[in-house]
Amino acid sequence: MRPENRSGTSAIPGGRTAAAARAAAARAVGAVLRGRSLDAALAEIFAALSPALARERALIQEMAYGALRWYFQLVPLVRGYLTKPLQDEDLEALLVIGFYQLLYMRVASHAAVQETVEAAAVLNKVWAKGMTNALLRRLLREETEIRARIAADEMLTLAHPAWLLARLKENYPDAWRAIAEANNARPPLTLRVHGGKITCAAYRDKLTQAGIVAQPVPDVDSALTLETPVPVEMLPGFQAGEVSVQDAAAQLAAVLLDARPGERVLDACAAPGGKAAHILERSPQVMLVALDVDALRLERVRENFARLDLAGTIMQGDAAQPSAWWDGQPFDRILLDAPCSAIGVLRRHPDIRLHRTPTDIARLAATQAQLLDALWPLLAPGGKLLYVTCSILPEENAQPLAAFLARHPDARANSLEHPALTHTALRAGAGFQILPGSANLDGFYYAQLVKSPVVP
Ligand SMILES: C[S@@+](CC[C@H](N)C(=O)[O-])C[C@H]1O[C@@H](n2cnc3c(N)ncnc32)[C@H](O)[C@@H]1O
Repeated sequence: MRPENRSGTSAIPGGRTAAAARAAAARAVGAVLRGRSLDAALAEIFAALSPALARERALIQEMAYGALRWYFQLVPLVRGYLTKPLQDEDLEALLVIGFYQLLYMRVASHAAVQETVEAAAVLNKVWAKGMTNALLRRLLREETEIRARIAADEMLTLAHPAWLLARLKENYPDAWRAIAEANNARPPLTLRVHGGKITCAAYRDKLTQAGIVAQPVPDVDSALTLETPVPVEMLPGFQAGEVSVQDAAAQLAAVLLDARPGERVLDACAAPGGKAAHILERSPQVMLVALDVDALRLERVRENFARLDLAGTIMQGDAAQPSAWWDGQPFDRILLDAPCSAIGVLRRHPDIRLHRTPTDIARLAATQAQLLDALWPLLAPGGKLLYVTCSILPEENAQPLAAFLARHPDARANSLEHPALTHTALRAGAGFQILPGSANLDGFYYAQLVKSPVVP
């Protein structure tokens, strides 16, 4: 375990702002404990920040993400110090954030304690200041023993829910620990350069001129990974649509789909539009339908297409019910970026480890099978369907595809030769599994199904 703060916290803001930042982070984590997504909770909190506190966004984000990344390690420690359970999510969140600062952030410990205690008052819990102070000071006194206890306990060290760690061990007997460690690491910020506007090399030069160091990603031509993440507003040409933020593993979708000019392409689960936009950036003459069931999320597709100067048909509809929206014209290519557990992107969404349950996996697997069956008739003979998830669980990947292939004699799996896959992915049933952290990529699954041509 090592201190992991790299940004935003070396200078502790003074007085009320520092306590208010901790209270804001606790509110975000508390909302996650009550079932909200971290992205939604932080967006709401950021929208309501005072101008003084708005300068502390990086610090708030760092504390909220860090506390959730290490939640399954920190919460047993917090609860172990309590004499009776807390019935207050925001307070438990604040204590976890306090422990996170002391064990992981490069913040002077006296400041971390003082500001976290004051944050209890900002949260209107003056009664909890004494307890907060006592717990944090006890952690400081016992830090050496606590660190030794964490190191000796696999569940505490890896900070995953027990069911998930068991699944990782079962499915990846040689790689489970590396996967869990990758899930706990900070993700890189990777950009997708809009090839219709600027070359990757020219954009990299622009970054260099702006003092931002970026490296190309082997085998993924459109991708640049920043040495140090920066807010998107600092990226040159972002508003003009020269770049988007997208992990390099996700950038393989458009490459593997390989849609050609004039082809009819369906992106069946398109929002917020990252992969759909990439398809059009690579080939603007593709006739793309970007479908999603979620009208609100489709707004993001509209915004992305507008920023990137792309034109596609954006349509709200349920991919499992094509009769409600399909015009009967077959598609040459279908991208099914299926709703999934997102277990492959835990490093970007630490709240998933609190929200996901084994029941979700079975439910999602049923949805994935249903979507495959519903979309298959929409594919032209000889057409290709690319199946994608950001999961690493076979229940959502190899298994539904094997069952689908068994049900559909007119479907066969294509071999998907691509250096990015051969260099970084495992063969997994009909497709390829990229494990999280492999070549510093997100965890993704890719498989391509080809429909038999009509026999003349
Ligand atoms: C993994 S996300 C897609 C990400 C997107 N392809 C991208 O690259 O930005 C899955 C999407 O599937 C959508 N979805 C879930 N069930 C659906 C259904 N039955 N029909 C259409 N869209 C669905 C969700 O609203 C969500 O936006």
